Amino acid sequence: MAVRCVVGLQWGDEGKGRVIDLMTDVVDIVARYQGGNNAGHTVVIEDNTFKLHLIPTGILRPGKKSVICNGVIVDPAALLEEIAQLEAAGLDVSSNLLVSDRAHVVMPYHKAIEAVSEEIRSGAKNDTTGRGISPCYADKASYNGIRICDLYDEELFRRQVRTNLALKNPVLKQWSSGGEMSEDAIVEEYLGYAQQIRPYVCDTIAYLNQAIDAGKRVLFEGAQGSMLDVDFGTYPYVTGSNATVCGIPAGAGIAPRNVEEVLGVLKPYTTRVGAGPFPTELTDATGDKLRERGKEYGATTGRPRRCGWLDAVAVRYAMKLSGVDRIALTNLDVLSTFEKIGVATAYTAQGQAQEHFPAAPAQLASCEAQMKWFDGWTEEITEIRAYDRLPTNARVFVEAVEQMLCVPIQTVSVGPERSQVIHREG
Ligand code: GDP
Ligand code: IMO
Ligand code: MG
Repeated sequence: MAVRCVVGLQWGDEGKGRVIDLMTDVVDIVARYQGGNNAGHTVVIEDNTFKLHLIPTGILRPGKKSVICNGVIVDPAALLEEIAQLEAAGLDVSSNLLVSDRAHVVMPYHKAIEAVSEEIRSGAKNDTTGRGISPCYADKASYNGIRICDLYDEELFRRQVRTNLALKNPVLKQWSSGGEMSEDAIVEEYLGYAQQIRPYVCDTIAYLNQAIDAGKRVLFEGAQGSMLDVDFGTYPYVTGSNATVCGIPAGAGIAPRNVEEVLGVLKPYTTRVGAGPFPTELTDATGDKLRERGKEYGATTGRPRRCGWLDAVAVRYAMKLSGVDRIALTNLDVLSTFEKIGVATAYTAQGQAQEHFPAAPAQLASCEAQMKWFDGWTEEITEIRAYDRLPTNARVFVEAVEQMLCVPIQTVSVGPERSQVIHREG
């Protein structure tokens, strides 16, 4: 398969980064198509732990190209910081990173407006990552966005900043502790970033299409998770972009028919950072145990992740949206030592079966998850590398999940390190 993609099938943090890292030895290019530095992808290679936010995971394999496509929103300060960190770790970023000239830029007022929105929403906060994501995507849709190419036309850029501040400063003056923002300070700061990122900036649409036509192997890296997709997720408790496969054509500038294979990433339980309905959430000691065993704390903000059992209803919905061909199941080791393991197989509302994934948050919150229970296993499995060596109950569980989802589980991972993976088929 020349063009493939990896998407998260839950509410993010499924282990996409570590799964993509396993695939990057057999691809030429890894491309991010949506989101911004709200993402946090942790990859553990021997004794080194890398946390990627904007730069695709391909950067960890020497010689592989990493593309930040037009659909990603770029905070230049965060990008430069990530480049510096990776280079300090001995990775060659300058030869391998490409950044779209059409990508929108996260501006300081986006973060300030986001903080104000969260404040005003008090009581119904989204609990965002605070990276300016939704105001940046909102500006893109309202024609007030600033793209990377605009940074190289100083007159245009200054005019854009002025327009934005005319709109935003009255709000900031009234509501933000930081008050109004200065046009000159922003312009000066961002023109400096523009020069520093210039070597990476190019037409990634032309680059990717030429690469695909030449038969290069391209892997699209999804950020966030399907249930955070702005159109299909648990709106308004979502992120500002299309985290499903639907985001690829618009976010990368390639025709949909190019995507030949979709790999969905899944944990055998569920986590969610931030607010929003979560039908299988465990707010008791079992949830705490999942969090501690899975080290479920956000890679971007360090927040404790909410934990619960696997929700096959949400996952089946997510799989439909992206047309998932295969699944990578991560974190199976986290379930060791649980006496019973639950999976939600259906929802009911007021005693009636809920046929479709509900749109209204209140409706989802009122759904009751119908659980199927599995016997757990006592032994740790982190050293196991062959599927048939897994405890019988672990295999029964994996195969039951596979049957519920009707798609092959290709890999099962049993620890965060690159080698801690079991391949089930070639
Ligand atoms: P992403 O955002 O989807 O890339 O996922 P994150 O990196 O935010 O969160 C996944 C977390 O689980 C990271 O800390 C990984 O190192 C860790 N992880 C990935 N696979 C496994 C696994 O099989 N077992 C365990 N115990 N941890 C894993
Ligand atoms: P990765 O790529 C988990 C969540 C935030 C919040 C909501 C909106 O690591 O899987 P935003 O800052 O995007 O406006 O926040 O989305 N969120 C994530 N949760 N993993 C992520 O990315 C996330 N990116 C955003 O916690 O609830
Ligand atoms: Mg993450």
